[in-house]
Amino acid sequence: MQITLNNGLSMPQLGLGVWRVEEGQQVKDAVKTALETGYRLIDTAAIYQNEAGVGEAIKESGVKREDIFLTTKVWNSEQGYDATLKAFDESLHKLGTDYLDLYLIHWPVPSRDLYVDTYKALEKLYADGRVRSIGVSNFHIPHLERLAQECSVKPVVNQVECHPRLAQNELREYCQRHDIYLEAWSPLMQGGDILQNEEIAAIAAAHGKTSAQVVIRWHLQHGHVVIPKSITPSRIRENFNVFDFELSSTELSSIDALNEDKRVGPNPDEFAVT
Ligand SMILES: NC(=O)c1ccc[n+]([C@@H]2O[C@H](COP(=O)([O-])OP(=O)(O)OC[C@H]3O[C@@H](n4cnc5c(N)ncnc54)[C@H](OP(=O)(O)O)[C@@H]3O)[C@@H](O)[C@H]2O)c1
Repeated sequence: MQITLNNGLSMPQLGLGVWRVEEGQQVKDAVKTALETGYRLIDTAAIYQNEAGVGEAIKESGVKREDIFLTTKVWNSEQGYDATLKAFDESLHKLGTDYLDLYLIHWPVPSRDLYVDTYKALEKLYADGRVRSIGVSNFHIPHLERLAQECSVKPVVNQVECHPRLAQNELREYCQRHDIYLEAWSPLMQGGDILQNEEIAAIAAAHGKTSAQVVIRWHLQHGHVVIPKSITPSRIRENFNVFDFELSSTELSSIDALNEDKRVGPNPDEFAVT
């Protein structure tokens, strides 16, 4: 299932995330299993320290590079115009490719106040044709507003923590209004309590599906891009097997009602780890 970004580029709506997947054999196996299953979107980041394995897996998979949508992210310590351009070259080198499909600012780090300069470096990479689209991650509405005022290329996505316990309704509505896709990280709440929730389990049973599949379906039907992570081959396949059923509006609403604005990750306004 493909979506069309605000610059006209197609992007798969469902992909594999590889945070906390070990560099080397583990990440290679996960990415290869995903590509064999039919995934065409892979989400990594410089800080995950597994870009080389992702690149090798893509090469060994036999799937053409141009058929894969590859995302990586500039880490907090590399923010700033020149440092970002350098970080981009390093990521590309590790990934063994000469272009990216999507490059993201990983966190805004408001205390460093470098995200506008960093974004201008992304605009330069985009203008030079080295990346097919650019976006941001962990941006609150005021951070997006500032980019709108000071930069010229609209981000195609804002990748943020999002799952039924943190539905991000206000941000989702803002993004929809501005033609920016919300991309959900930790979409399964990192395997947390949402997968044990009784209401979700009942909906899953009614469809002959698993709770994880129902949560992924909730994301898809809300228009999120969704990137569940797994290193377990059966789960990688399970998470992709979500295109043969649909949640009713009543089922969607009952999952919406589980929202508690509860994060499992840090609040971007406070996160400043470099
Ligand atoms: N931009 C950011 O700041 C940011 C932050 C966090 C994450 N992300 C991205 O988002 C991706 C996904 O988020 P995440 O890795 O934090 O969490 P997640 O995808 O919500 O959950 C991953 C956890 O759920 C388990 N799991 C996966 N499929 C399952 C299934 N069908 N049934 C039961 N358990 C299942 C996995 O276990 P196994 O692996 O053991 O199977 C793993 O422990 C990351 O990999 C990364 O690409 C971005």
